Amino acid sequence: MTARASGSTSRNEARRALFADLAAGRVVSDIAFDRLYPERIRKLSDRYWTPVDVARRAAELFAKHGARRVLDIGAGMGKFCVIAAITTDLELSGVEHRENLVAAGREVLATYAIPRVTLIHGTLDDVDFDAYDGFYLFNPFEEGTFSPSEWVDRTVPLSEERAAGDVARVEAALARARRGACVVTFHGFGGTIPKGFTHLPEETRGIPFLRLWVKD
Ligand SMILES: C[S@@+](CC[C@H](N)C(=O)[O-])C[C@H]1O[C@@H](n2cnc3c(N)ncnc32)[C@H](O)[C@@H]1O
Repeated sequence: MTARASGSTSRNEARRALFADLAAGRVVSDIAFDRLYPERIRKLSDRYWTPVDVARRAAELFAKHGARRVLDIGAGMGKFCVIAAITTDLELSGVEHRENLVAAGREVLATYAIPRVTLIHGTLDDVDFDAYDGFYLFNPFEEGTFSPSEWVDRTVPLSEERAAGDVARVEAALARARRGACVVTFHGFGGTIPKGFTHLPEETRGIPFLRLWVKD
């Protein structure tokens, strides 16, 4: 075996061990998890991708409160979806408008045969909100209010106006969501959870910025 082949074999073994650790509820660091993705994506992690322990808890909350099909609105490369798929039996979809993130995410899904995750390349126009009973939002539209030097990249059009429109569309989708629907936010989503949802602060105590609502 060449040095290159043995290096990649041990990397694959380490990654499979990481998935086993996640599934077993053992501690997995963000640095270890983010190594699944290319450097340009890893370096955005602190600001843009959900930390492993937060994703785990969010997934647990959806499962505990009866959600079955969960949509990550603004999914990035699918970090939340992958962690939720490995730690629960939820069906996960993530919609993401950046093609390069979707491509990197799909490569991980295929390489490691991650079950029950679909990454949709598109915008809010490309999802049927009515098909879901769980919605995860890690403040996806705030980037549109940042100066361009702080954006993830310049491959998609961003503006405050677009962000406001997307927030309003999510509010409208949540307003017509079915009874029992769950919403989990991390750092909010820039809008207001519509009437009819109950906030359950006791479920997220100890995890700053994570919030759960269930529709009555
Ligand atoms: C803060 S990141 C969160 C990523 C992922 N949900 C996570 O928690 O790790 C927000 C993501 O939403 C995406 N996004 C923002 N607005 C979007 C829109 N209107 N349609 C699709 N994706 C969007 C961004 O490209 C970015 O990858």
